[in-house]
Formats: sequence, structure tokens, C-alpha cells
Amino acid sequence: MIKTVQRATKEIQPKILYYGTPVLLLSTLNEDGTTNISPMSSSWALDKYIVLGIGIGGKAYENLVRHRECIINLPDPTLWEQVEHLAPYTGKREVPEYKRELGFTYEKDKFEVSGLTRVRSNTVQPDRIEECPLQIEAAVKMIRRPSYCTDLAIVETEVIHVHAHEEIITGEHHVNPEKWSPLIYNFRHYFAQGKELGKTFRAET
Ligand SMILES: Cc1cc2nc3c(=O)[nH]c(=O)nc-3n(C[C@H](O)[C@H](O)[C@H](O)COP(=O)(O)O)c2cc1C
Repeated sequence: MIKTVQRATKEIQPKILYYGTPVLLLSTLNEDGTTNISPMSSSWALDKYIVLGIGIGGKAYENLVRHRECIINLPDPTLWEQVEHLAPYTGKREVPEYKRELGFTYEKDKFEVSGLTRVRSNTVQPDRIEECPLQIEAAVKMIRRPSYCTDLAIVETEVIHVHAHEEIITGEHHVNPEKWSPLIYNFRHYFAQGKELGKTFRAET
């Protein structure tokens, strides 16, 4: 049946389209064996694979090209301020010009600056983040640089180990959705499930 009542719409040209995906903190390995942390929100999971969208101007991309392992740490809403503490930093010593203009500065020790705690991983070299209720060790299977967009990479990973805080586990191997809550990045504002917590320094609304 065709609906007769229509909602009024207007075509817009939004600068960003971050329509509400979970925040993740990506651990990657620096050249000296330390761990870099990069806030991300472009990801999706299917079966035992997780796909990430990563800008090539950041340290995460550089690290993954050199060392094909990572941890996908998933913070809950209580950690939004620690995530935002990390937001204006890059692990790149030479900060790319476009990032400098946006207000980014270099920071080598993202654990120190965020107050988050490092934990050794089982089989991959980058460290996990203790405070994140879900910590996923993953191997990089493919890094694609699309010809239609040269400034981002699509990184395909395979999950190796999943670590979960005991409070969010139900039964032996399931995450309890009533106990686990993602931190949502919704047009550059942070949300829990329903309630806004704050906004990132680059928000324009
Ligand atoms: C909540 C949040 C989500 C972000 N999501 C992404 C993302 O999905 N992909 C990306 O490349 N950058 C994303 N960024 C920007 C990176 O965090 C930023 O480029 C940062 O400098 C990366 O750190 P790095 O250069 O040390 O890797 C996001 C930033 C924030 C605060």
C-alpha cells in the first residue's frame, strides 16, 4: 500500500555522515614496540571479521602497514571523557599539515594522556586497554586503498581472541546485551543509549 502522508524532507550536503556507530580504541604497534591508541568509529563486524575505515594520514594506518596486528578495544559510555582526551592527538611525530590546522598535536604515550591502563595481549604484540569491557585481538588480512578515494584505507581484520569483562558475560561465551552498552559516536557527539554525554572538540553543532 502506498502511504499518502509524507514527511517533509530537504536535500542537504553534510560535511560528515557519522550517523551513530560505536566508538573503538584501536591499539597498533609503534616502531619501537610501544602501543599507539587511535579513537575510531568506522567499523562493522560480520562473523569473525571486523572491517575498519582508517585515514591514511594517521599513525594507526602507518603502524598497520608495518605490523599487521591490532586490538579493537570497545569502551562503554563511562569512558567517553578518556576517549575525548585522546581526540586531539596523533602518534605521528611529524603532524601532517591538515591535521595541524585542525588542532592536532603529537603525543607518543596515549595511555599516559588518557589515564587508561595497558594490559599484555595473548598472541598479538599491541597492548590491550584494561578499562574497555571488550578487547578484541585481531590480525590484518587485507588493506585496501580505494582508487575512488585516496585518503582512506579499508582494513579487513580477522578476530583471534575476544576478552570481555566478567560482568558483561552471560553463560560461557556470550556477551549480555543488558550489561554491555557501546559508546555511540553520533555526528561527532557522544551518546550512551538515549542520553547525550558531550561532544568532540570538532563538533560543529
Ligand atoms: C570518536 C572518534 C572517532 C573517530 N573515528 C575515526 C575513524 O573511524 N577513522 C579514522 O581514520 N579516524 C577517526 N577519528 C580520528 C582519529 O582518531 C584521528 O585521526 C587521530 O589522530 C588518530 O590517531 P593516530 O594518528 O595516532 O592514529 C575519530 C576520532 C574520534 C574522536
